[in-house]
Amino acid sequence: MAVGLLGGLLGEGINEVIATTFYNAAPMGIILRGSEGPKMVLFRGSHTAKNVERYGWLVANITHDPVLWVRTAFEDLPPEYFADLTFNCRPMYRLRDCEAWIAFEASIENETKDNLIVRLSPLEQEILSTTPRFVNRGFNSVIEATVYATRYVRFKDPQLLEWIEHHAGIVRKCGGNREVEAMKLLRVFIEKEEGS
Ligand SMILES: Cc1cc2nc3c(=O)[nH]c(=O)nc-3n(C[C@H](O)[C@H](O)[C@H](O)COP(=O)(O)O)c2cc1C
Repeated sequence: MAVGLLGGLLGEGINEVIATTFYNAAPMGIILRGSEGPKMVLFRGSHTAKNVERYGWLVANITHDPVLWVRTAFEDLPPEYFADLTFNCRPMYRLRDCEAWIAFEASIENETKDNLIVRLSPLEQEILSTTPRFVNRGFNSVIEATVYATRYVRFKDPQLLEWIEHHAGIVRKCGGNREVEAMKLLRVFIEKEEGS
């Protein structure tokens, strides 16, 4: 088995998390390859990229609530969704309802025209729930469909809509009520985008 980091919370490859920065939350990937430490590639237009540039920290949250993945990809969460943490007198925010979190110092290692490459150094972590969870293909498909929907908003490639429909079928077959609700919400965001 590949060796993980931070007691196994981060595994090799891309760890999908909900990243919180200053009163902002969005799904993001934390990349862990070989002996290199964790890093992220942030699209320049996002609030997350702006906050990392400005404040230099980020918290990675683990959650299996599919609705939260869709909401945070497309809209801001109200302040009551956040809980505060303090490191060296610096306020940071995590998701109030999460299963675990890791707070990172975040420094920009490289920049391209479109992206920031961000190096992460762990400060502290907490595991709040130790209940193991079975894999639900419906949940995984909500995540896939949300990735495609965030790309659709930027690139408007109709192929992405076909892939979203494929995943909507898996959500119908394998998901629970919360996955079905998340998929409905995703459609609302996509329709809003079509109308704009
Ligand atoms: C599972 C998943 C992973 C994502 N990973 C990244 C990522 O690594 N980098 C990035 O810039 N955007 C990523 N996105 C897209 C952002 O979540 C999306 O652009 C979001 O609207 C940014 O929100 P913000 O402006 O509040 O930061 C991902 C989306 C999903 C659904």
